[in-house]
Amino acid sequence: MNDSRKVYLDHSATTPVDPRVVAAMLPYFTQKFGNASSVHFFGQEARAAVDRARREVAALIGARANEIVFLSGGTEANNLAIRGVCEAASGHSRHLITSTIEHSSVRGICEGLGKSGWEITRLPAYEEGVVQAEDVRAALRPNTVLISVMLANNEIGTIQPIEEIAALVREERARGRRQLWFHTDAVQAAGRIPLHVDTLGCDLLSLSAHKLYAPKGAGALFVRRGVRLVSQNVGGHQEREKRAGTEGVPGIVAFGAAAKLAREEMAERSQHDQRLRDRFEAGVTERIGNVVFNGDRGRRLPHLSNISFRFIEGEGLLISLDLQGIAVSTGSACSSGTLEPSPVIRALGRNDELARGAIRFSFGKDNTEQDVEYVLEVLPRVVEKLRALSPLNREEMGRRDLEAIGQN
Ligand SMILES: Cc1ncc(COP(=O)(O)O)c(C=O)c1O
Repeated sequence: MNDSRKVYLDHSATTPVDPRVVAAMLPYFTQKFGNASSVHFFGQEARAAVDRARREVAALIGARANEIVFLSGGTEANNLAIRGVCEAASGHSRHLITSTIEHSSVRGICEGLGKSGWEITRLPAYEEGVVQAEDVRAALRPNTVLISVMLANNEIGTIQPIEEIAALVREERARGRRQLWFHTDAVQAAGRIPLHVDTLGCDLLSLSAHKLYAPKGAGALFVRRGVRLVSQNVGGHQEREKRAGTEGVPGIVAFGAAAKLAREEMAERSQHDQRLRDRFEAGVTERIGNVVFNGDRGRRLPHLSNISFRFIEGEGLLISLDLQGIAVSTGSACSSGTLEPSPVIRALGRNDELARGAIRFSFGKDNTEQDVEYVLEVLPRVVEKLRALSPLNREEMGRRDLEAIGQN
């Protein structure tokens, strides 16, 4: 096997920019560099390009173009959706419902709101990593303003019951309740599974360009007509007063081009990703013992696999794979020098050992069967080596030896 081989299996972290997307955005750095707010020809040209991109992004999720607000990415979209709606809510309405498996941006925003006096209900996602709509119903209070539940999880890929939650919201509205909104973070799902905001029934939906083969630094928030929110940026009239600041035209153009390609190629891409992912998982099951698959395997994004390897730290496995040219990720975070187990895997009820041993493999359109074969050749060796060195493993082996001789 070629030592310099590189296999990128971290498409949920970010994707390479599609060369067709690069070609679409390049003129907007040089000949077509205008400010989309300028009145002259250069400005009009940039404005027309932003509007075209807006139509493409809207089409990806079945929205109207004037319901799309361009901004810098998924994190900003989540901030504008959650903080914007909460700030617009009047008076005593200060309760928000979210889940225990949200992206860190949503977790952070909710924590901040909690510190400023908001009551936050965090719904469980159970062992399968799926929130139950009935739990949302039970959590609703007269002063609930917003429900924010992600569309698909970024670590395990599980798809949440968005349509069922939206149906509950509609029931509440039919009872005369006006100030209740539903936001979903679709950053991981967009471009990977078909989405239509009217079928989903959400009021706000977050998107990020760099997860769908466009560059980093562009994103969008779908804001359904009639939703009231307070802009989190002030000092300009851009984006219908919802996001002040000169539009990043090249990034927006790229986002539009990528959204169009994602819509046209979605079926083919997801079949491809799923075939590779399933082949990979079958190979892991065949060749490696003591693995636990995280999240409901039927109800998840087609490109993603999350596996806990018992007796080893995910971080060690990640580094060893990196040395072999294989890029994956863990959900654990380094905090004050210690490795915090992934909160998402912990939320599934897994113990610290399994949460720390979890690795996310996320496939993309440029991966090949040879990539999968290479990983299946390297991974069992690396796991075996790390297990041989692992104190966790030695303890476990010791316990089993004792069991075998009836001493335990
Ligand atoms: C589910 C989810 N939401 C939000 C984000 C943040 O998006 P961005 O990187 O564009 O800020 C990510 C990125 O990993 C994500 O996976």
